[in-house]
Amino acid sequence: MATSSVAPHDPAASRGISRQTQSDIYRAGISGQLPSVPTDPDRLAEAARKTLNPQAYAYIAGSAGGQHTAAANRAAFDRWQVWPRPLRDVAERDLSTTFLGTTRPHPLLLAPLGVMEMAHPEADLAVARAAASMGASYTISNQASAPLEKIAQAAPDAPRMFQLYWSASDELNASLLARAEASGCEAIVVTVDTHLLGWRTRDLDLAYLPFTRGMGIAQYTSDPVFQQLVRDRVRVASEAPAAAEKVRITPQTIAAGVSIARHGAAVTGSRNLRENLRSPLPRTAVETFLDVFSTPSLTWNDLARARRWTTLPIIVKGIVHPDDAQQAIDSGVDGIWVSNHGGRQVDRSVPTLDVLPSIVETVNKRVPVVFDSGIRGGADVAIALALGADMVALGRPYAYGLALDGEEGVRSVIRHTLAELDITLGLAGLTAIDQLDHGALRQQ
Ligand code: FNR
Repeated sequence: MATSSVAPHDPAASRGISRQTQSDIYRAGISGQLPSVPTDPDRLAEAARKTLNPQAYAYIAGSAGGQHTAAANRAAFDRWQVWPRPLRDVAERDLSTTFLGTTRPHPLLLAPLGVMEMAHPEADLAVARAAASMGASYTISNQASAPLEKIAQAAPDAPRMFQLYWSASDELNASLLARAEASGCEAIVVTVDTHLLGWRTRDLDLAYLPFTRGMGIAQYTSDPVFQQLVRDRVRVASEAPAAAEKVRITPQTIAAGVSIARHGAAVTGSRNLRENLRSPLPRTAVETFLDVFSTPSLTWNDLARARRWTTLPIIVKGIVHPDDAQQAIDSGVDGIWVSNHGGRQVDRSVPTLDVLPSIVETVNKRVPVVFDSGIRGGADVAIALALGADMVALGRPYAYGLALDGEEGVRSVIRHTLAELDITLGLAGLTAIDQLDHGALRQQ
């Protein structure tokens, strides 16, 4: 994986971003060049589908059950319309905003997406560099394909957060948060909607979960506490060997074994594939991960422990009920992230945009509100901001950009989204992000 660093984002670059982006695209068109990353969201997803293998596309695009929540997330945007207002001098527009006490060039951040190696070999490193070059805060996933230290090194000066899945081992949780703090993360995002893995029919029908191939567990295999858990498990197994489970050897079994061995380098300390194939550690790392990954017994009272593990601000991701937003604030969190995981957890869930206004009302500016699930373009960002979100997170679209053109592809998706946001703001007769409110919208 390449680890070149990036030029820091020039905040002024967000000003006039729409004009520059349109101009670049139309100029290239004169010599017959079309955008390698489509600007139309449906065509973007379709282009990525053609590039990705069926398992990767299913994993990224798929949602729970009959995919109703993902559709409902989008349909919720149809209930709001931007209300254009002409003749208001919008020549100078400013997308900047403040989040966690720091001025940001714009209100867009990148949601945590696990297993991005399925989209591109440079995975999270490419995403981190693209985010940095566009001034977008990047949320490093607990299920990333590279250790968080390496992701931080890819864009050392850029703002980043670390997303935690609360594992069954508190020692591991504490270790991950200490690493995040040491790697310059500015906040911890605790995702609380994945205490059970959703019923993801597209993955189930392909019988494919990337973690069982050793993918997306780099934060774990690079962690000293996790490595100890793996060694302990190997020791216990060697003291009381269980009857070997019969596994049918197929080309797929062999491919899975090689994938696990390749990803197991972090726990064996060896890059030798043959050695890793023979070692019990890589396979045991996958088993240990599957055991510790989720904590269905977690309660609000447990959340307080995170405070002991970090001095960083804590944002709770996966809130869709105003009472839970209140509970989160009572628990002392520093931010609320409204999300239904892009519909990947509960089929027939409430769409996030529908519940955003009541959550914003409950939060009443006490802490910042981040929004995601269903954002596909700049007009969607404008609507979420107008309904009270302080920051808006992009999910699947940037994974599609990554699949199409690596770092450049992610950059294009961010750029297109910001360009459309800038244009929407101006055509709504506004010149600053904080002017976006209910007055800019009409409800259907
Ligand atoms: C996710 N999401 C997610 N969330 C999280 O907290 N940690 C994670 O590791 C992941 N991984 C992940 C992988 C993939 C492939 C997807 C599509 C999503 C959820 C993500 O952060 C965000 O909430 C959703 O992507 C928002 O929905 P849309 O806008 O992408 O549909």
